[in-house]
Amino acid sequence: MTSSIHLRARGLHQTYDLAGTHLKVLQGVDLDVVRGEVLFLRGPSGAGKSTLLYILAGLEHPREGTIEFEGEQIFKLGSDQQALLRNRRMGFVFQSYFLLPELTALENVMLPAMLDGKKNEAKARTLLGRVGLSERLDHLPSQLSGGEQQRVAIARALVNDPSILFADEPTGNLDAATGAGIIDLLLELTRQDSRTFVAVTHDPALAALGDRQLYLKEGHLHQTA
Ligand SMILES: Nc1ncnc2c1ncn2[C@@H]1O[C@H](COP(=O)(O)OP(=O)(O)OP(=O)(O)O)[C@@H](O)[C@H]1O
Ligand SMILES: [Mg+2]
Repeated sequence: MTSSIHLRARGLHQTYDLAGTHLKVLQGVDLDVVRGEVLFLRGPSGAGKSTLLYILAGLEHPREGTIEFEGEQIFKLGSDQQALLRNRRMGFVFQSYFLLPELTALENVMLPAMLDGKKNEAKARTLLGRVGLSERLDHLPSQLSGGEQQRVAIARALVNDPSILFADEPTGNLDAATGAGIIDLLLELTRQDSRTFVAVTHDPALAALGDRQLYLKEGHLHQTA
């Protein structure tokens, strides 16, 4: 059974001290994500969903707690090894697309592969085709719509063929119809390739499309709202 656990979080605590206030955001979060699972995280604004997602992805270090990803304790690795693991095995999609403005769509998608010493132009072209942007390869981000920019960001997240994809409100800046299209695309691209998908959303209709939903409230994860 243990082998089917893709990501295991234990005892996550996160606090922020800022301007004399002590904020307890995560107060003992435990989570097991099964390989191939589509999990949505929900909860009120400010509950700590983004914080939790960034910690699960190793982008932020918790005050306390552990993350085991594919059997490895990620916070025990050195920072270079953590960066390598993230670049090779994890993909991220954010609410703001974070494309590099001076690079074309194709170059933006190729970037994570190039950072790993690979020049994966064919893969980048294929992925841009899968997200429906074969005709936009040479466009700069400023020449693309919001939905198109998010499609480029999705292709970029997948170029190194990650086993897990994280998304923080990937439809947050898009209108309802465009957002629904983006979620359909994310689910198709994760399910077709048997990836694990962990995403934060405020939208109950989108969250219902996954295998499981969890709610973050008052520092803990709950099965119901
Ligand atoms: N680096 C930081 N320093 C200080 N406080 C922070 C930091 N990051 C987050 N916080 C605070 O922690 C709390 C949780 O923030 P987080 O962004 O994780 O919430 P969220 O659930 O993602 O909210 P939203 O739904 O609005 O995106 C907030 O009150 C926020 O102000
Ligand atoms: Mg957030």
